Amino acid sequence: MAFGIPTLSDGDISIRPIRVRDARVLERELRDNRGWLRQWEATSPAGPFTFDVKSSIRGLLQQSRAGAGLPFVIENDSEVAGQLNVSSITYGSLASASIGYWVSERFAGKGLTPAAVAMATDFCFFQLGLHRIEICIRPENAPSLRVVEKLGFRYEGLRRRFIHIDGDWRDHFCFALTVEEVPQGVLRRWRAGTAPESAAHIPTTDRTRAANPLIPPRR
Ligand SMILES: CC(C)(COP(=O)(O)OP(=O)(O)OC[C@H]1O[C@@H](n2cnc3c(N)ncnc32)[C@H](O)[C@@H]1OP(=O)(O)O)[C@@H](O)C(=O)NCCC(=O)NCCS
Repeated sequence: MAFGIPTLSDGDISIRPIRVRDARVLERELRDNRGWLRQWEATSPAGPFTFDVKSSIRGLLQQSRAGAGLPFVIENDSEVAGQLNVSSITYGSLASASIGYWVSERFAGKGLTPAAVAMATDFCFFQLGLHRIEICIRPENAPSLRVVEKLGFRYEGLRRRFIHIDGDWRDHFCFALTVEEVPQGVLRRWRAGTAPESAAHIPTTDRTRAANPLIPPRR
C-alpha cells in the first residue's frame, strides 16, 4: 500500500517527507558529523560503505512507494537537523514497523528526536493503523537509550549480533510500544509528563550479557 507522507509539527520541531533535493544538505551534515554518527551507522556486511546520499534517498523513496517505509527529514525551525526513518512496515496480522534516527551534533540535547519519534509513532498508529512500533539500540548508545526511556517505550529484550553497524554485527536492546498502551498518543503523553520512564528499564542480567560478546571481537 502506498500513501502520502505528511509534514508533522510540534512547536518548532517538524518531520517532513525526504526529497531527492535534500541530498546536498544531508551529504554535508553526514560528512561534517562523521565522527558523531559513524559508531551508530548501519553498514553492509557485503562490503565497504559508499557515501552516495542521492541513491540512498532514492532507495528510501522506492521503499516508501512500495508502502514499506516512511522516510522523514527532521527539522528544527525549518533547518535540516537529521533523519527519521520508519522501515519494515508490514500490515496484516503483524501490522508493525521499526524506527531509526539521527541528528547532527549541534542539534543534540534539544529534544528533537523524542518529539520526532513520538509524532512518527502516532502517525503509524492512528493514521496508518499499525499495531506495534519497535526501536532497537546498541547497548553503548546512552543518548538513544534515553530517547526511548523518555517516551516510555517498553524494554523487550536483548538481540545478539542483530544489526550490522559500523562494520560488524552488533548486539541491540529492543524496545516497543503497541497502540493499546498509548490511547492518548505518544506525543501527548510525553508532553503531559506521564510517560512511564521505568518501562524502558533494562534488567542487569541483559546488561551483563551484552557486556560479554557472543563471539570474541576480531583482532
Ligand atoms: C541518539 C540521538 C538521536 C538523540 O537525539 P536528541 O535529539 O539529542 O535527543 P534528546 O535531546 O532527547 O537527548 C537525549 C539524551 O542525549 C544526551 N545528550 C544531550 N546533549 C548531548 C550532546 N551534546 N552529546 C551527547 N549526548 C547528549 C542526554 O543524555 C539527553 O538526555 P536528557 O535530555 O535527559 O539530558 C542523537 O544523540 C544522535 O543522533 N546520535 C548519533 C546517531 C545515533 O545514535 N542514532 C541512533 C541510533 S539507535
